[in-house]
Amino acid sequence: GKVRAPTHIVSTISDDRGEEPCYAGVPMSSIVEQGYGVGDVISLLWFKRSLPRYCTHFIEICVMLCADHGPCVSGAHNTIVTARAGKDLVSSLVSGLLTIGPRFGGAIDDAARYFKDAYDKGLTPYEFVESMKKKGIRVPGIGHRIKRGDNRDKRVELLQLYARTNFPSVKYMEYAVEVETYTLSKANNLVMNVDGAIGSLFLDLLAGSGMFSKTEIDEIVEIGYLNGLFVLARSIGLIGHTFDQKRLKQPLYRHPWEDVLYTK
Ligand code: ACO
Ligand code: LMR
Repeated sequence: GKVRAPTHIVSTISDDRGEEPCYAGVPMSSIVEQGYGVGDVISLLWFKRSLPRYCTHFIEICVMLCADHGPCVSGAHNTIVTARAGKDLVSSLVSGLLTIGPRFGGAIDDAARYFKDAYDKGLTPYEFVESMKKKGIRVPGIGHRIKRGDNRDKRVELLQLYARTNFPSVKYMEYAVEVETYTLSKANNLVMNVDGAIGSLFLDLLAGSGMFSKTEIDEIVEIGYLNGLFVLARSIGLIGHTFDQKRLKQPLYRHPWEDVLYTK
């Protein structure tokens, strides 16, 4: 009989060989005709399944809320400086994206990992936070440069409100809120940030939707899909900042001497 030559690549999320491309088996015509949104496309290409509307809308809210946070944050700053150095769109974009990491926007996966582990082990917020302190690890998803206990992050409140109204269970988020209550009792800057809100709420989405097995949830958390939401979302703003600088014909940026402490 015929022997199939071994392939060099295995791929499972999309197929472009037929008359029309398919995302996780769903043809493009269905995506367009049935009014799928970006959240549905993310569900198909990242999670390989169609998720209920309340989940895809939650994903879309995350993307909208994280699209930009002004010109002063690490990512936008890098993009602006790069655009002003005369670089192209892709260079300006990736220069900003490269700042996304454990301190800025890229704490979602770790927030999900640590909150899940602590909740599943039944640790009290006190035990969890103090054990992190002993290990010398900052609690991912907690803390902000400008937000405070008396000046909460509106984005976090909006995500929580949506989930409380639409999710069947928000047990991981409520646990993160208890952690925040404890950290706020220690210092006023230790609020839940968007990374913590998305990390904990995505655990609730995965566990509460009934669309994922326990093994699949563990795999998603272990691989770390969720920082992808911030990367995707913030790309929208970084592209906007690039166009803005080009439109404004901004010259090469040079940081003022006065703002540098020259010392030995
Ligand atoms: N857990 C425990 N303690 C903390 C935390 C935390 N997450 N964040 C700050 N602290 C404490 C520390 O004791 C710190 O003192 P130290 O410098 O001796 O360690 C003190 O608060 C003051 O912290 P700062 O360093 O002044 O806080 P800063 O404003 O520089 O940091 C940051 C803000 C980077 C967000 C920080 O809170 C942090 O690392 N958080 C965890 C990572 C995270 O969630 N990042 C995502 C932020 S949201 C976003 O980027 C979209
Ligand atoms: C952001 O969304 O970029 C932030 O929360 C970080 C910041 O310092 O505002």
